[in-house]
Amino acid sequence: MNSLSRLAVSISLACAFPLTTYAADAPADSKGTVEVVHWWTSGGEKAAVDVLKAQVEKDGFTWKDGAVAGGGGATAMTVLKSRAVAGNPPGMAQIKGPDIQEWASTGLLDTEVLKDVAKEEKWDSLLDKKVSDTVKYEGNYVAVPVNIHRVNWLWINPEVFKKAGIEKAPATLEEFYAAGDKLKAAGFIPLAHGGQPWQDSTVFEAVVLSVMGVDGYKKALVELDNATLTGPEMVKALTELKKVATYMDADGKGQDWNLEAGKVINGKAGMQIMGDWAKSEWTAAKKVAGKDYQCVPFPGTDKAFTYNIDSLAVFKQKDKGTAAGQQDIAKVTLGEDFQKVFSINKGSIPVRIDMLNDMAKYGFDSCAQTAAKDFLADAKSGGLQPSMAHNMATTLAVQGAFFDVVTNYINDPKADPVETAKKLGAAVKSAK
Ligand code: GAL
Repeated sequence: MNSLSRLAVSISLACAFPLTTYAADAPADSKGTVEVVHWWTSGGEKAAVDVLKAQVEKDGFTWKDGAVAGGGGATAMTVLKSRAVAGNPPGMAQIKGPDIQEWASTGLLDTEVLKDVAKEEKWDSLLDKKVSDTVKYEGNYVAVPVNIHRVNWLWINPEVFKKAGIEKAPATLEEFYAAGDKLKAAGFIPLAHGGQPWQDSTVFEAVVLSVMGVDGYKKALVELDNATLTGPEMVKALTELKKVATYMDADGKGQDWNLEAGKVINGKAGMQIMGDWAKSEWTAAKKVAGKDYQCVPFPGTDKAFTYNIDSLAVFKQKDKGTAAGQQDIAKVTLGEDFQKVFSINKGSIPVRIDMLNDMAKYGFDSCAQTAAKDFLADAKSGGLQPSMAHNMATTLAVQGAFFDVVTNYINDPKADPVETAKKLGAAVKSAK
């Protein structure tokens, strides 16, 4: 059974149950309540989501916070599925990439509620087609795109680099290993890394991109081409991944990404490979991009941009107030003010093309300006590719197959890259 039918079967039961209303929870003068499920729970990310909550409440609606802790969202997705099966989906939930299509095909997402807002606010011309296609189902918007994250970043503490005698940010894997060795010798954690499956795969996809280039990345992680998944280039990427892993924080097993980011911020570690939500922690710690920290594309990936679009999908609701609240959230989210303030806090860049073209005007820092410039250039060159580790390239089922094989490989001292590439091919094939 493919992943689509698996989700559909478990969720078809949902239609037998009544949908929730929130009348009892809301203050008497509330225009309506929207529960929003998301996983933005680190200090910096909470500051970002509070911006949306405050605006929606100012507009007279009640925001019911459905935050589910757990970076990368795996726990939030489990909660969402069981809520849907119980006939009690929230008004909105962070769902990304091909999973939006999968959820929409179950009939639980609302294809009508965003129609007027999208038309009035001209979403079709405000958004890059890659962004709007992701959040549409059969031509209708079923999710509100919030922001764009770049995943293939390397975060550096320059003070730590200086103490370890490293002169510049690594631009190749060889330079990365040399920097790692110097950091180790000077007593620092070379690479802050939490050994959770999604973090392991965030590093894996960066290494794949570096070793196999944009074409290889696309064939293996987006098109899921079996020959590429099991071929010599993948073996090479896995071999390099094992080497990168030797620099990872020895105390990082099971650690949250933000705690690992904290180690770079407070000078215990030199680097972290992480999407630019990591910047939300630097910002919350009042550190300045380009001065207190450096962001560079992961070595060997400067001509590519692995993207991750956060988006809030709309679930069908009986309550009219909730529908009005969903529309309010949609309208606020695509507004210039929100796009600016949210992304500055979250570490991301706006989804609006007009803003991406004029980042300095909105006061974005040097990391965000680089991200926007690269997003626009890579959209033209083909270097703009969906992140596998962040649900943009595949369904959750296929992503789960990657996660299992990659995490086992990193943790097994005897694992062999040739065998692992074969396993990868087989696991992905059966999850498709
Ligand atoms: C990503 C998500 C980001 C951020 C990150 C860490 O999947 O898109 O917004 O929350 O996980 O949890």
